[in-house]
Amino acid sequence: MARINLDVNGKVHTIDADPDMPLLYALRNDVGLNNPHFGCGLAQCGACTVHLNGQPIRSCVTPVSAVGSGKVVTLAGLGTPEKPHAIQKAYVEEQVPQCGYCINGWIMTAAAPFQHIGILSLEFHVDKLSRPLL
Ligand code: FES
Repeated sequence: MARINLDVNGKVHTIDADPDMPLLYALRNDVGLNNPHFGCGLAQCGACTVHLNGQPIRSCVTPVSAVGSGKVVTLAGLGTPEKPHAIQKAYVEEQVPQCGYCINGWIMTAAAPFQHIGILSLEFHVDKLSRPLL
């Protein structure tokens, strides 16, 4: 066991954990978040996706010790009901979710480029992605 500080959604949490424990377990069991889900546990389905320093990662296969001083953002930290992230807003408007179990991975993966380039305009993103790559 080790004492580990995790910066999650802008708040530092100190937990006692095996350094090899998956980040997903720390987020769900120690930090108390329920939006990154356990699906396959093999980095295949994406249900556990969170951002680490703006990049999407599979938290089911990321040891909690690998986070270091990095900043973790989960679906809950992406936006709020009052001020959702552009991707969250689009998903609600278009009624995208089906059963909803893997929606965390869809949104966190789709939102990552926005975080990386700092652009929150869905229209900009769609415009760039809809053009042929020449
Ligand atoms: S639980 Fe399926 S990718 Fe992590």
